[in-house]
Amino acid sequence: MSSALTTTLLGVTMNNPVIAASGTFGFGHEYAERFDISRLGGISGKGLTLHGSSGNDGMRVWETPAGLMNSIGLENPGVRRFIKEECPYMRAAGCAVLANLGGHSEADYIAGAELLNEADIDILELNISCPNVKAGGMAFGVLPKSTEAIVKKVKAVTKHPLLVKLSPNAENIVAVAQAAEGAGADGVSLVNSFLGLAIDVAGKKAVFENVYAGLSGPAIMPIALRMVHQVAHAVRIPVVGLGGIATVNDALSFFMAGASAIQVGTITFAQPDAMLTIIDGLERYCLEQGLLNIAEIIGIV
Ligand code: DHB
Repeated sequence: MSSALTTTLLGVTMNNPVIAASGTFGFGHEYAERFDISRLGGISGKGLTLHGSSGNDGMRVWETPAGLMNSIGLENPGVRRFIKEECPYMRAAGCAVLANLGGHSEADYIAGAELLNEADIDILELNISCPNVKAGGMAFGVLPKSTEAIVKKVKAVTKHPLLVKLSPNAENIVAVAQAAEGAGADGVSLVNSFLGLAIDVAGKKAVFENVYAGLSGPAIMPIALRMVHQVAHAVRIPVVGLGGIATVNDALSFFMAGASAIQVGTITFAQPDAMLTIIDGLERYCLEQGLLNIAEIIGIV
């Protein structure tokens, strides 16, 4: 692995700055059958809740032109089972381990973060941007005040570096990012999915039981890129960029817009080894451009 891609994020040194996005990679088992997952920079596991959940009823995924809508509803094994069963597997994969923590209440988030202090993870990714649960989730991340309150409380209990995952459905994502920074976040990751609506016209009803669902994939990329650019100019902590990244050019665009690392999600469903293609492409780009490290292009636009 070339040192041109070596990246230190929130004090964690990674092979490269490409992280599998939460909710698109499980805990890695399925993809390990398809490619060498140790080549990734990191893996952000499926969003956890304190007690676990079986997720939403009804339709869960729906393809759109250049995008994917989802309403999974945080299906996950719960924090305790994650620590026992999934975390050792992710650690053995040899790349950075991110635990993504969601919650339905402030107490849930705090208890989850406290439990995760016993887990061998590198970064705690606090998910205040899940659009698919009735209580909590995105509700915490749409306003600066509620963001500040939850980030402060989680920061006070966690021993891990804290990355806060932001919602593009926020009233003002720059203000939310600044609130997270002010409350002690070590970094922010953005963006999660955009709230959308799909209608089953023949059935004269919404496709999803929760009516609205999260849109991700190439369709959202230019909007995500604009938000990353805005936030990177407004905070001093590292920004992890995501939202529809599918190609090496997309990845380079996020670095140029100010991202210190990227996450890749939806494209993995269509092209399981897309992240490897991106990593190889980034390496080639550094060589061609004579860059000692990819970090040289962060924020140049
Ligand atoms: C789910 C979707 C999200 O966008 C998220 O951040 C967390 C969970 C879900 O539906 O499971």
